[in-house]
Amino acid sequence: MSDRAEHVVIMGPQGAGKGTQAALVAPELRLVHISTGDLFREVRKADTELGREIRDYYDRGALVPDELTIRMLSARLDEVMQQDAGIRGALIDGFPRTQAQAEALDRMVADRGERIAAVVLVDVPRERLVERLSGRLICSNCGATYHRVFNPPKESGRCDVCGGTLEQRSDDTPEAVERRLAIYYEQTAPILDYYQTAGLLVTVNGDQPIDDVKNAITAAVRPRFSDAE
Ligand code: AP5
Ligand code: MG
Repeated sequence: MSDRAEHVVIMGPQGAGKGTQAALVAPELRLVHISTGDLFREVRKADTELGREIRDYYDRGALVPDELTIRMLSARLDEVMQQDAGIRGALIDGFPRTQAQAEALDRMVADRGERIAAVVLVDVPRERLVERLSGRLICSNCGATYHRVFNPPKESGRCDVCGGTLEQRSDDTPEAVERRLAIYYEQTAPILDYYQTAGLLVTVNGDQPIDDVKNAITAAVRPRFSDAE
C-alpha cells in the first residue's frame, strides 16, 4: 500500500449516475465517498443562515459560490482522512465543477502531499438524463438513490438500506434540471480537457446497466493506483 493518500474524482452530467456508482465503487476500491451535493443537502435542512443561503442556490439548481464550496470540501476531506484508517483516499463526487474548483483541488492535494489517481467521466448522452432525473427517488434519511423504473426499491416508498421514506429531490423540478444541465455543459464539461491534458481522465460508458458501469469503473481505475492491484 502506498503511504500517500490517493483520491479519485467522479464526473459526469446530472443524472449520469455519479452518486449511484460512488456508493458501489468506493468500498471496493477502499475509498470514502465524499459528495458535495450530499453535504449541501444536509446543510440545507437546517434552519440557520447557512442553511437558508444554501437552499436558495440549491433549489434553483444554481451553483453554490466557489469559496464556500471549496471550504466545505476541504473540511470534509480533512475529517475523512483523519478518521478512516485503512482507506486509500476519497472518491470525490460533484466537485470540481468550475475551473477555480479544479485548481483549488490541485492545490489542496499538493499541499497535503497526496495525489489524484484518476478522474472518471461517466459518459451518458444528454437525451437520457432527463428520464433518469424525473424518475429519481432518494431516501429522506440516508440519501440512498433509486429510480422508479430503472432501480426501484424492494418495497414501494421505503429505503432498502434504512427503511426511511423515499422522496423526490427538491432540485429535480423541470426548471432546476434545465439550469443544472446548462451549467454543466457551460462550466463543468470544459474541466474535462484540463484533466485530459494532465493524463488523469478515464471515460466510462454510463449508458448501460448499473452493474456493468460499476465493473467498467473499477477496471479502469485500479491500474491508476500506485500499488496497482
Ligand atoms: P449534486 O447532488 O452533485 O447533483 P448533480 O451533479 O446535479 O448530479 P446528480 O446527483 O443529479 O446526478 P448523479 O450523476 O449523481 O446521478 P444519480 O446517481 O443520482 O449537486 C446538487 C446541487 O448542489 C447543485 O445543483 C449545486 O446547487 C450544489 N453543488 C454541489 N456540488 C457543488 C459544487 N462543487 N459547486 C457548487 N455547487 C455545488 O442517478 C440519477 C438517476 O438515474 C437515479 O434515479 C438512478 O437510480 C438512475 N441511474 C443511475 N445509473 C443508472 C443506469 N446505469 N441506468 C439507469 N438508471 C440509472
Ligand atoms: Mg449525485
